[in-house]
Amino acid sequence: MNTFNTIHDTKQFIASAKKAGKSIGFVPTMGALHEGHLTLMRRAKQENDLLAVSVFVNPIQFNNPEDLEKYPRDLNKDKALLESVGCDILFAPSTAEMYPEEKVTEHFNFGKLEAVMEGAFRPGHFNGVAVVVKRLFNIITPDKAYFGEKDFQQLAIIKRLVEMEKMPLTIVPCAIVREPDGLAMSSRNERLKPEERAIAPLIHQILQEAVELKNKKSPPEITRWVADRFKSNPSFSLEYFQIADDTFLQPVKQWEKNKGAVGFVAAFLGDVRLIDNIRFY
Ligand code: PAJ
Repeated sequence: MNTFNTIHDTKQFIASAKKAGKSIGFVPTMGALHEGHLTLMRRAKQENDLLAVSVFVNPIQFNNPEDLEKYPRDLNKDKALLESVGCDILFAPSTAEMYPEEKVTEHFNFGKLEAVMEGAFRPGHFNGVAVVVKRLFNIITPDKAYFGEKDFQQLAIIKRLVEMEKMPLTIVPCAIVREPDGLAMSSRNERLKPEERAIAPLIHQILQEAVELKNKKSPPEITRWVADRFKSNPSFSLEYFQIADDTFLQPVKQWEKNKGAVGFVAAFLGDVRLIDNIRFY
């Protein structure tokens, strides 16, 4: 694995790989790698000549300083996992390398896409994601970039970014990878206390039960039902549950044939904020 900390060295390596006709599959991450990340990487490795991964905890996408401070970091462990999936290029820059300017002023307008859910509850989050992903794409110049549906709204934002910036690459969406008990894999799961980890799978269970109600209840009725289910378990604090269309992520009031709908949830267990989603089709 070729490991780089600077933009200059990374670009130089990539330029020679491209000259040799190699295609590049890219998986951007914030490290604390788990099987969810590794699944994206195995696919990227399979579909391209070279696998490039970035590990960078992007400070400007955290709207909560404590979340940034507590974000798990272990680059040596990550490197061993990256070797195990045959990663060819690791880009692990410092904050100063990614953000040489005093203050990031770049601003994107994603319209309605960022007015809901994660965009509404985490002001500035998606702008921070878009700024870093655009910079990473310009450094790595991948043919394909892989993103998880775990962060469904992020995926929609990135697709829009690529469209707006007319970037010549393909975004490949990848299914959510779960623990055997149904909990969506996340770097934040490491921060759950044992008793919180034990009840965390309830999030996915409630979503599955909600989908089973589709023929009996309307989206607003299901939304109330989900809120009640979370309320009856006081360990959880539900931030939102929302059923939205799968393209513009706008709230769905009634079921429509031929229109994909997804249920999105964000909930706190203690001070750990978890998100998940499920398709209603
Ligand atoms: P991070 O949370 O490290 O996730 C990196 C990629 O892995 C994202 O595309 C995410 O959706 C995917 N991923 C995480 N858990 C997953 C799971 N259980 N199943 C499937 N895919 C999963 O998302 C980010 O980093 C950052 O916002 C980033 C895009 C790197 C920009 O900083």
